[in-house]
Amino acid sequence: MKIKTAAFEISNSDVKKCPKERIPEYSFIGRSNVGKSSLINMLTSNRKLAKTSGTPGKTQLINHFKINDNWFLVDLPGYGYARVSKKVKRIFQSFIKNYFLQREQLICSFVLIDSRHEPQRIDIDFMQFLGENRIPFCIIFTKADKLSPTVLKRNIDTYKEKLLADSWEIFPNYFVTSATSKKGKDSVLEFIDKVNQNLKHD
Ligand code: GTP
Ligand code: MG
Repeated sequence: MKIKTAAFEISNSDVKKCPKERIPEYSFIGRSNVGKSSLINMLTSNRKLAKTSGTPGKTQLINHFKINDNWFLVDLPGYGYARVSKKVKRIFQSFIKNYFLQREQLICSFVLIDSRHEPQRIDIDFMQFLGENRIPFCIIFTKADKLSPTVLKRNIDTYKEKLLADSWEIFPNYFVTSATSKKGKDSVLEFIDKVNQNLKHD
């Protein structure tokens, strides 16, 4: 799929104020600094669309971007960022959870995992929350450019083993990406395109 237009629509911290339009929506979630905003920019070939930063905690709101005038990509704040106060963290968490529980247009979410790290409890718990609430998601292993192919494969295998040992019967659909080399761009966009096409025929 070719992305012809990608335009910022609105930012807010309340799911009730998100766009009312009934078009398919795909969101990006994961720990702060995992590369959610960078991935959106990579997918849309627009380095300035979503704000990125080397310092965790850059994205603080629910940001809607309209793609090709007929679906949304949504950039979300990260979870697990230690340097914000407990109160701010609670507010973040409650509006993120409300977004997932209440956003009817949400078709699929991408849970981003830094491919360099061992499985982390906070990510496993978040996927558990999505599963329990029947919210469809895929996994995206980010920053693949930072690892050799061998280590990358080993880390993904470790992740699979961990999730399957935990409580998942199958490993979710997953992608491997790099915002710097553009690895995974076509696969993610093809997946979204396929889902969008299927929705049209429902
Ligand atoms: P928050 O908004 O704070 O939750 O972070 P985020 O998940 O949106 O991360 P962001 O896209 O802002 O990227 C965080 C840092 O990681 C930035 O310094 C990016 O340049 C870097 N980064 C993101 N993706 C990649 C990648 O695929 N490869 C490399 N090498 N660096 C990346
Ligand atoms: Mg961000």
